[in-house]
Amino acid sequence: MPGSEQSPAAGPHRPPLRFRGRRVYHPSMEKYWFTYEDIHSTIRDLAERIRQSGYDADAIVAIGSGGFIPARILRTYIKKPIFAVGIAYYDDENKPTDTPHKVQWVDEVERKLTGKRILLVDEVDDSRTTLEYCIRELLTHKPASVAVAVLHNKDKEKRGVIPPEVKLYLAGRELEDRWICYPWDALDIEEQNRQAHAAR
Ligand code: G4P
Ligand code: MG
Repeated sequence: MPGSEQSPAAGPHRPPLRFRGRRVYHPSMEKYWFTYEDIHSTIRDLAERIRQSGYDADAIVAIGSGGFIPARILRTYIKKPIFAVGIAYYDDENKPTDTPHKVQWVDEVERKLTGKRILLVDEVDDSRTTLEYCIRELLTHKPASVAVAVLHNKDKEKRGVIPPEVKLYLAGRELEDRWICYPWDALDIEEQNRQAHAAR
């Protein structure tokens, strides 16, 4: 992940660092901290907005690994089957790669997505690269439609685009371009919650 690819050079007043063309966040930058409760209520509201949009999904496709927990919470409100896809920027030896690629895909079930209304779910729309890659792959399976729901969208210049075939795009929350600390990444969940409460 970008946060762990930090090179030591930058200070808070220098322009953002880039690694393989992607923005790298300095550890001293202000971050967003969220609890599981925060995530759950954002997803409840997101589910309500999806319902209001009239988009009636047949299947949820979760982009792993960040999209797994959000997709599962979403399923509490939108009771549809979840398919999981894994996209990564690292190879089998955990070495960084320049472009996203599949580490796990729905090949064996892709026929099940043909003609279906897909709701694609991820935790964060950051550079949009992974998201675009995933949408384009899904479109090759000829679904009836694709809608995208992300927990958070970062207000920043994007490297990827949301293809015009996408019927609906919704973000639970719009955020500034800062590093987001998710509860599922926390080694110390009590400290995560303290940070999240302190930031309110
Ligand atoms: P995008 O198309 O969805 O915008 O994703 P992008 O390729 O830009 O993101 C590369 C990786 O960086 C993704 O994880 C994404 O989830 C993660 N990421 C981007 N910004 C943040 C952030 O602020 N906080 C955290 N925690 N992660 C962020 P990945 O490599 O697919 O890993 P994972 O989903 O298995 O964690
Ligand atoms: Mg992710």
